[in-house]
Amino acid sequence: MGLLRCITVFILVCFLSVIHHNGVEGSHIVYRGLQSISTSGVKHLHRTGYHFQPPKNWINEYATAPMYYNGMYHLFYQYNPKGAVWGNIVWAHSVSADLINWKALEPAIYPSKFFDKYGCWSGSATIIPGKGPIILYTGIVDTQNTQVQCYAIPVNRSDPYLRTWIKPNFKNPIAIAEKTINGSAFRDPTTAWLGKDGQWRMLVGGRNFNIGMAHLYRSKDFLNWVLAENPIHSANTGMWECPDFYPVSLCGKKGLDLTSIGEENVKHVLKNSLDLTRYDYYTIGTYSSAQDKYVPDNTSEDGWGGLRYDYGNFYASKSFFDPSKKRRVLWGWANESDAAQDDIKKGWAGIQAIPRKVWLDSNGKQLVQWPVEELNSLRGKKVKMGNQKLQKGDYIKVEGITAAQADVEVSFSFSSLKKAEEFDPSWKNAQELCGKKGSKVEGGVGPFGLLTLASEKLEEFTPVFFRIFKAPHNKHVVLMCSDASSSSLKKQGLYKPSFAGFVDVDLADKKLSLRSLIDHSVVESFGAGGKTNILSRVYPTLALMNKAHLFVFNNGTEPIQVENLNAWSMKSAIMN
Ligand code: FRU
Repeated sequence: MGLLRCITVFILVCFLSVIHHNGVEGSHIVYRGLQSISTSGVKHLHRTGYHFQPPKNWINEYATAPMYYNGMYHLFYQYNPKGAVWGNIVWAHSVSADLINWKALEPAIYPSKFFDKYGCWSGSATIIPGKGPIILYTGIVDTQNTQVQCYAIPVNRSDPYLRTWIKPNFKNPIAIAEKTINGSAFRDPTTAWLGKDGQWRMLVGGRNFNIGMAHLYRSKDFLNWVLAENPIHSANTGMWECPDFYPVSLCGKKGLDLTSIGEENVKHVLKNSLDLTRYDYYTIGTYSSAQDKYVPDNTSEDGWGGLRYDYGNFYASKSFFDPSKKRRVLWGWANESDAAQDDIKKGWAGIQAIPRKVWLDSNGKQLVQWPVEELNSLRGKKVKMGNQKLQKGDYIKVEGITAAQADVEVSFSFSSLKKAEEFDPSWKNAQELCGKKGSKVEGGVGPFGLLTLASEKLEEFTPVFFRIFKAPHNKHVVLMCSDASSSSLKKQGLYKPSFAGFVDVDLADKKLSLRSLIDHSVVESFGAGGKTNILSRVYPTLALMNKAHLFVFNNGTEPIQVENLNAWSMKSAIMN
């Protein structure tokens, strides 16, 4: 009886929330009846070993205000302390000395004031020279989700963990939706930067009809904020959540802090999380401090077809400058691809992607990302494969590692591109193309790559692979896929997309490299040294623990050489 009632309520709630969701830009599907069903037990089956997750319950937007302060990395994340679906949102808080092993602290920010009574949504941290960190975040003031921007400060700056945060009454909230602003689409303040004119600036994500925008605010004292007449940038892409704006160096991999915004010899990156499509797209461009305007370069498409940090399940990301290693680090959240009822049964939902170092590619047209070097400290037993030829139809098992929890780096080569299939210029959508031309569809050059989380007899597997096409004018198109369509025998309630992206890479040396971080229910892959990246969430039923295997394969007529493959069993990280 209890179960029947629960199921009926669940179906009703899902139905209502779908209707509700259609009209609202409020991002997460709201299952009101399920938000506070407390988690009785946590299922371990698909839990990760080294991708961060809290002991139980829902997380979204893992890195709400990432920062490095006094020798510690801080992560705050949107967390439901009461259940495994979105709701009751507070800022959970974990700290780490190495970005890999984490200690959980008490939630740092939770509803306690009239301006955040109905939720403490996302924001950012700014470290004020000589004064320490300030968090800017979005408070929800009523049941209509009216959004305002607020600030919080640590009670004791010399506490190495910065455990306790307060929200002073003075000047809080610091920004409310004025005149032209849509107050239910006004959230996620960025890290602020100090302009050369001595004024602080911050951006807040917004939407006006279908135009997504980053509202610009200025302040002389960090307390009194004035809305600028125009947003720093806008585009016809729907609501912009979690904007992120930062400078990148024109050469090398070093990161820059926000004091370089507006300098001549840098490029700027504006990233937005698109609520309508649920992916993070970015442009590379120029920022003029005189006009307070950001203009994307004409090499960066400014729309749904634009560049993405990741062509898989990776959303609401944030970056921060790590002064200890002079790098910019990017965090992204990977939601589940199963159904809400599965999450309730599991007792948890949401993981974080491995933090990635990010820099501008030498072509100046895109970013490159790579897992932070600290991850290598978890590498255990190593196996190697070299000079292994793969003929069409070859599947060769990589033996000797825990293939359910592994790190694999491989470089492939081929002797000619003559056999590459013709590229049809109407194939604009990589994901659709990968859906048509999966790993089992024979090709010319490729498909070749890895089969991850594969069961012994290949009833289940998640292939991560390349396929190379011939384009006019002696050019080539490289497609990278991370295809979840055969990842699980479970039929119901799973989203199994053929995630894919094109790789802008020079094939003169006839080589392509791939790195995959495999961790029970996640395969996070970096193509061509981090130029195109794809994170997939998958839920094998057979390819579990020591029943999971790793293969290299080729299904193209051109023979492929595995030049060098290194694979490591990965130890588990300490997580809270
Ligand atoms: C991103 C987001 C933010 C919002 C928060 C609410 O996933 O929708 O825009 O602040 O989550 O939890």
